[in-house]
Amino acid sequence: MASQPVIVVTGAGGQLGKTLAQLWPQSALSQIYQLLALGSAELDICNSDAIASALAPHDVAVVINAAAYTAVDKAEQEVERAYAVNETGAANLAQCCQANGARMIQVSTDFVFDGQANSPYKTDANTGPLGVYGASKLAGEQAVLNCLGEQAVVLRTSWLYSPFNSNFVLTMLRLMREKEQLAVVDDQIGSPTSTFSLADCILAFTGRTDLNGVYHCCDGAEISWCDFAREIQVRALTLDLLEREIPIAAIPASDYPTPARRPAYSVLDISATLADLDLPEPDWQQNLQRVLEHLAQ
Ligand SMILES: NC(=O)c1ccc[n+]([C@@H]2O[C@H](COP(=O)([O-])OP(=O)(O)OC[C@H]3O[C@@H](n4cnc5c(N)ncnc54)[C@H](OP(=O)(O)O)[C@@H]3O)[C@@H](O)[C@H]2O)c1
Repeated sequence: MASQPVIVVTGAGGQLGKTLAQLWPQSALSQIYQLLALGSAELDICNSDAIASALAPHDVAVVINAAAYTAVDKAEQEVERAYAVNETGAANLAQCCQANGARMIQVSTDFVFDGQANSPYKTDANTGPLGVYGASKLAGEQAVLNCLGEQAVVLRTSWLYSPFNSNFVLTMLRLMREKEQLAVVDDQIGSPTSTFSLADCILAFTGRTDLNGVYHCCDGAEISWCDFAREIQVRALTLDLLEREIPIAAIPASDYPTPARRPAYSVLDISATLADLDLPEPDWQQNLQRVLEHLAQ
């Protein structure tokens, strides 16, 4: 068995997985633990034998599950696949953690809520997912908590973006280059969250064996997709990521129909996370700036 204890990250090729790997060398945890970042080709979380074999050679302290089926609209058709990854996959990891005495951090989503609230959702607010993706992620949360109890943290986040793979910020930048004008939904309110701030929060939880249960992590804004798109454009122009400004019109979600219903309001209350981890209030604009500067480099 390797002498250094190991932190495992699943779904390492995803935008969160890539961010965790990038931040790892600067983390104080890297002095104590080794990072084992496994992409979907190296570890399929749907395969419990594969999980057992991948973890067996190591002294695993924590598994961070960044693997997920995240195609919100496609999930309405691929119901079985969504549950296989988001519920059974999470449960498989939890069982292996239990067998190895390891802790687990399960990343989850604002889509577990129905969006009928008008103030930030507390961690114990009633859930009510509107679609298959949210329902499968909620089932994953429950499976992990049932199996691991106090050895698990479920960390819900929202509107995730990064310099990697595909996400709203990258899509907007592309469309702003290609189009003469854009129309963006203005009646869904949420909090965009940079994978850098989520990864910082996950690494903080990784080092805190005394914390467990459901927590929320987001960048603290309360804005629409349209507000977010306008902020992206203003900042991208300043950084020369864009050459010219285009008009961005506000439209209702009813003008942009999608297969999956989305919550109209999904801001997460992060007060418990900030208090327990002793973190300052996040600054969503500064966090957007950090990602855009990363892209401008
Ligand atoms: N994206 C958002 O806006 C958002 C919002 C709230 C919460 N979240 C949650 O945040 C977490 C990270 O999301 P993300 O945006 O980083 O997702 P992502 O970029 O879609 O990455 C997910 C990764 O999981 C991998 N994966 C899928 N099935 C797998 C399996 N069976 N075994 C192993 N790996 C598998 C995928 O690999 P392949 O590409 O090879 O399939 C992909 O690399 C997820 O729990 C997600 O539910 C995301």
